[in-house]
Amino acid sequence: MQKPSATASGKPLLVAVTGGSGSGKSTIVRKVCEHSPDLPIAILQQDHYYRDLSHLKPAERDAINFDHPGSLDMALIQTHLESLARGVAIDRPTYDFATHTRTKEVVRMEALPIIMFDGILALHDPGIRRLFDVSVFVDVPDDVRFIRRLRRDVRERGRSVEGVIEQYLGSVKPMHDEFVAPTRRMADLVISWERWNDRSIAMLANAMRELYEKS
Ligand SMILES: Nc1ncnc2c1ncn2[C@@H]1O[C@H](COP(=O)(O)OP(=O)(O)O)[C@@H](O)[C@H]1O
Ligand SMILES: [Mg+2]
Repeated sequence: MQKPSATASGKPLLVAVTGGSGSGKSTIVRKVCEHSPDLPIAILQQDHYYRDLSHLKPAERDAINFDHPGSLDMALIQTHLESLARGVAIDRPTYDFATHTRTKEVVRMEALPIIMFDGILALHDPGIRRLFDVSVFVDVPDDVRFIRRLRRDVRERGRSVEGVIEQYLGSVKPMHDEFVAPTRRMADLVISWERWNDRSIAMLANAMRELYEKS
């Protein structure tokens, strides 16, 4: 079946999924898509929008605080979400985490009827926040998020335990407390994701379907 190109009103539904690092945002976005494979959902990840640091020396790049909002190209995020909200496709940048640079490759992303934006700072910037029709904050205690992050970075990213702890205490935690945690109260919906909570996935997917079909 061909996917429709827009909702009845012609305006895509924009859904923000935010919360701290390791809370389970990307997992939830994936599970919503698996729960409702017929929903025409496109996923946009904040991670592609880190600023290009090719003008800095490699040692200087490593000193950047990647958990600070200033490390992201917020203006481009806003421009791209505004395009998608109007039903206009974007050329999404691609970021190379190994070199902290934006690669030449761009990825065309069509404005499907439902856009899910996944990022720790989705609700931080007022100009971006106002673009979302629905926002979800994934709520998980800090200790659990830290343990998940430690596991993921050691197992999947080849990092040392000491290195992960240092980064957590040095930038991840202070930036979370200052910029991410305060956006919890700005979200429409808070999902408790300390355990696998499949009911919350079903409820979110069903709410999105209802908004999509009515819009
Ligand atoms: N409810 C859960 N219980 C246990 N582990 C989870 C849960 N949800 C996600 N995870 C795991 O935690 C890690 C971080 O999840 P992820 O979705 O990547 O978080 P985020 O995108 O918010 O940083 C992953 O390894 C994921 O498999
Ligand atoms: Mg993620």
